Amino acid sequence: MKDNYYFDNAATTLPKPEPVYQFMDSFFRSHGVNPGRSGHELAIEAETMIIETRRMLGEFFGFGGDPNRVTFSLNATDSMNIALLGLIRQGDHMIITRVEHNAVLRPANHLERDLNVSVSRISADDVGYVDPEDIRKNITDKTRIVVVNHASNVIGSLQDIQAIGRIVKDSPAIFVVDTCQTAGVVPIDMDGWGIDVLVFTGHKGLFGPMGIGGMIVREGVDIRHVKTGGTGVNSVAEFHPEEYPHRVEVGTPSIPGIAGLNAAQKWFAKLGRDRSSDAADLSSHAAACQAALKHIHQQENRTANQLLDAFHDIPGVIIYGPTGTQSRVATLSINIGELPAEQVGTMLDADHQLCVRAGLHCAPVIHKDQGTLERNGTVRIAPGFFTDDEDIEQAIKAVTEIAGFGASS
Ligand SMILES: Cc1ncc(COP(=O)(O)O)c(C=O)c1O
Repeated sequence: MKDNYYFDNAATTLPKPEPVYQFMDSFFRSHGVNPGRSGHELAIEAETMIIETRRMLGEFFGFGGDPNRVTFSLNATDSMNIALLGLIRQGDHMIITRVEHNAVLRPANHLERDLNVSVSRISADDVGYVDPEDIRKNITDKTRIVVVNHASNVIGSLQDIQAIGRIVKDSPAIFVVDTCQTAGVVPIDMDGWGIDVLVFTGHKGLFGPMGIGGMIVREGVDIRHVKTGGTGVNSVAEFHPEEYPHRVEVGTPSIPGIAGLNAAQKWFAKLGRDRSSDAADLSSHAAACQAALKHIHQQENRTANQLLDAFHDIPGVIIYGPTGTQSRVATLSINIGELPAEQVGTMLDADHQLCVRAGLHCAPVIHKDQGTLERNGTVRIAPGFFTDDEDIEQAIKAVTEIAGFGASS
């Protein structure tokens, strides 16, 4: 029996692969210096690790451009703000979807209120899919940005980014994709799918720690300076550098955070090579990681389907979002009868040691569309790559027991 059964991987993944902990610890001890700036050997080695991480992440996301365009920040919210505020101008039009996280909803609301930006919010269908044609219909010659959440952090619906990318490519708009729920979980092809700005966070599927995230910015996309300050280069310049990565990076970077992402990238490549049964050439980092991601996506979906099948058979359990073979990530939302989600979350934790998130998941608009805003949200059960049979058994047992209690109360 475990102390805890962790099903909060949509919030942050736990555990991380062992090499992530080890490398963060060892690199921070040996190279916990300010990279680049000081010019001594340790600083140069730390900078070399950062450069390697930019290169690996670019390949991981199918980005063939200059690795200096793989940029770091505090988290996805930070990069999303820098991208949106640095791209949009007063009076522009932007398109977002109703499945967005507050990391997009709130900046869009502020731009609408404070900068006279007009915002189109595209609806999803009953199970959370946006029709790419609805995006086409809303693009005008004033549309500056189209932002789409690759997968819902409430119900797991996975959008067809490739189809949306084709549509946005036919217009002058810039295509920004929030990959928080998909980076490290499904294969992503930034170049092939026509993504202009890919925003990622480090602490979820990418298996890094909290406090690191970033974005990849395609050549030709020039984000205005939103934050300025020290960069460690060209100190005498009065203004912040124009060139990436400095253009969108400020101050001292997180060496432990980037070291975590570095080790995780190597872990993904090793997993791909270890698990691949076919004779494909996995010598490149990109190919090895793509193999790993296919494996991870399949395994997580298997787990999600096991849980969904079981929940489906429990009287009183309401399941939201995609079912069966629909394209999804393993982020499941349920409710149990009339029980408030937060009460169920507390019971799962206190009585069954299950770590879930219950309530509203920073995405109020999709809750509204799913009819779960009024009842204060859902119980989000998000297995991850390290979820095992014991976890699954415990989750099914716990939901069954609480549903029995709900029926009798
Ligand atoms: C879809 C989505 N977008 C954005 C975010 C924000 O990520 P972070 O808190 O790491 O900035 C999250 C995290 O919950 C998310 O799930």
